[in-house]
Amino acid sequence: MMISAHGNREKRTIRTFDRRQVFLAGVVTALVCLCTYYFLSPSDLIPIFPRLQPEFSPCHCDQPYPAYDLQFDPPNSTFYDDPSFGYTINTKMENWDQKRQTWLNLHPTFKSKSQENLFIVTGSRPTPCKSPTGDHYLLRTYRNKVDYCRIHGYDIFYNNVLLDPFMPSWWSKIPVVRAAMVAHPEAEWIWWLDEDTVITDMEYKIPFHRYKDYNFVVHGWPKEVYQKKRWLGLNAGSFLIRNCQWSLDMLDMWADMGPQSPNVEKWAKIILEEFKNPVCDQTALAYLIWKTQNESFGRKILIETGYYLEGYWVGIVESLKNITERYLEIEKRAVMLRRRHAEKVSEVYGVLREPFLKDAGNEAGRWRRPFVTHFAGCQPCSGNHNPLFTIEGCNNRMNEALNFADNQVLRNYGVFRHDLDNSAVVNPLPFDYPA
Ligand SMILES: *[C@@H]1O[C@H](CO)[C@@H](O)[C@H](O)[C@H]1NC(C)=O
Ligand SMILES: *[C@@H]1O[C@H](CO)[C@@H](O)[C@H](O)[C@H]1NC(C)=O
Ligand SMILES: *[C@@H]1O[C@H](CO)[C@@H](O)[C@H](O)[C@H]1NC(C)=O
Repeated sequence: MMISAHGNREKRTIRTFDRRQVFLAGVVTALVCLCTYYFLSPSDLIPIFPRLQPEFSPCHCDQPYPAYDLQFDPPNSTFYDDPSFGYTINTKMENWDQKRQTWLNLHPTFKSKSQENLFIVTGSRPTPCKSPTGDHYLLRTYRNKVDYCRIHGYDIFYNNVLLDPFMPSWWSKIPVVRAAMVAHPEAEWIWWLDEDTVITDMEYKIPFHRYKDYNFVVHGWPKEVYQKKRWLGLNAGSFLIRNCQWSLDMLDMWADMGPQSPNVEKWAKIILEEFKNPVCDQTALAYLIWKTQNESFGRKILIETGYYLEGYWVGIVESLKNITERYLEIEKRAVMLRRRHAEKVSEVYGVLREPFLKDAGNEAGRWRRPFVTHFAGCQPCSGNHNPLFTIEGCNNRMNEALNFADNQVLRNYGVFRHDLDNSAVVNPLPFDYPA
């Protein structure tokens, strides 16, 4: 299912690496707000709670923690009952905002927190990995995302079928995101993550309050896309998309440039001319963002520079050991951060840590934990890694990043890995560590 553009992308990625480093260096330090706003929003702690008793249904929104009613679906008709409704890209959807609202009105327990509801979507190929260690790494990168979801109360969907057989490889995420939006009307945001991404700051919460005016958020360097028309000015391996009509239209426009579209050749020509690069999902996205920049449509798109919604692993993984040291220093000073606690309340400790991180910065060379580390070019599953990397080099770096992330989780279970290079050995976490 991998198309050849795949390999090309990685080659290009590395060739332009030096340039990327320059962009990295140029990224403006943006202080990430202290999100006390999310602090007490355990809207999704629900799956472990018993369902609401009928007398509490529908939701009593004056209750501090309204739970989802997972067993309540009234017979009133919704978009699901419309025979023309479909999950695929080529079934046109209109008035989605209204349809979604109608559904929410009928399911009031899902309404109260819907502005913060995040639904994570990721996935991999339908068949076993070609690389002998591939499935091991996919399991670990998936586990990493599940850990993040458990800590923050988000739902996740791991897809491993091609929802549209004519949209293989990188394009396959578009139909999955489309299906997830209509399958989860309760979700306000969908977060797509490639299989080879690792969440390396388990405490970090996406600052949704900054995105009130946006429907699509991707990490990148705005000047590179808007002015220089460079397809590597962003990375499509991690993006946020709001669950609304605008987004369905945007996915239609994006998919129209894809291999299944009757217009693919027309777009390939235009994109090659403007972006000097063959069409792939990422060039198409960069083109779409560039092209609509002066329209009200395009103003709903944000190229995020303030934190690593996606960060290229080269340059990041080297810093993880130093970052570990800095975080340990903070914990030596702050008794509360050393305190043992139940995993379910770990968000509280993330908020408590924020004041200590105000000088940490987010860009390369600074010491805040990178939020997402993307192993672009490593191809852990197919094994078709960029020739400039070795499998061992990639695997070692992935181990380090995964162990770095895992340490943040494992301490809630009383252990940690002292040595990020050694996945197999854990040490017990002494009481009041690291006093
Ligand atoms: C749902 O259907 C019931 C029964 O027909 C009706 O009483 C109720 O008003 C409907 N709810 C909405 C929100 O339309
Ligand atoms: C958007 O507007 C700027 C400033 O007027 C202009 O330079 C640029 O060419 C426009 N871009 C597009 C894609 O129309
Ligand atoms: C880690 O910290 C040491 C000592 O401060 C410094 O010399 C080194 O350059 C740092 N390494 C990275 C990759 O930032």
